Amino acid sequence: MSIKTKILFVCLGNICRSPAAEAIFLYRIKEKKLLDKFEVDSAGTGGWHAGNLADSRMRKAALERGITIESRARQITLEDLNKFDLILAMDNSNLRDLKNLSNQLNNPDSRNIRSIVQYAKNTTFLEVPDPYYGGEKGFDEVLDLLEDAIEGLILDITKI
Ligand code: 4NP
Repeated sequence: MSIKTKILFVCLGNICRSPAAEAIFLYRIKEKKLLDKFEVDSAGTGGWHAGNLADSRMRKAALERGITIESRARQITLEDLNKFDLILAMDNSNLRDLKNLSNQLNNPDSRNIRSIVQYAKNTTFLEVPDPYYGGEKGFDEVLDLLEDAIEGLILDITKI
């Protein structure tokens, strides 16, 4: 029996960035035959879209790269903060919200809460921009950035 590394991707609505990050991560670890080593999920700091599929613009842009986004939105819970080994925020506002939430724990510990952009190697972005109110180009830009960050993330967490 192997213990799985549990990774949670977090954005605001859980309908654009974090479901895309989850789907890209799953796609890449499947490719590397590492699927059984991880438990992966995504959540939003807000719950407005709970139960919904990801934004159709994001699903379309991902599918054009062969990546299917299947997850349904949900809001993050306090239990998630204890359960996941690594909680990856898309932007600095998500990061702040997660750290504030973790202060509600009996034993606050935010060492497992990080910004996903820190793993990207080929970008000048300091956070993953919210594409929700922008045009189609924004979704591709987010996917490029997430692909870069997830490549770095997988290298980091699978290195011996
Ligand atoms: P996400 O994008 O945080 O990447 O899922 C957003 C989705 C919805 C809203 C904001 C951001 N919204 O305000 O409804």
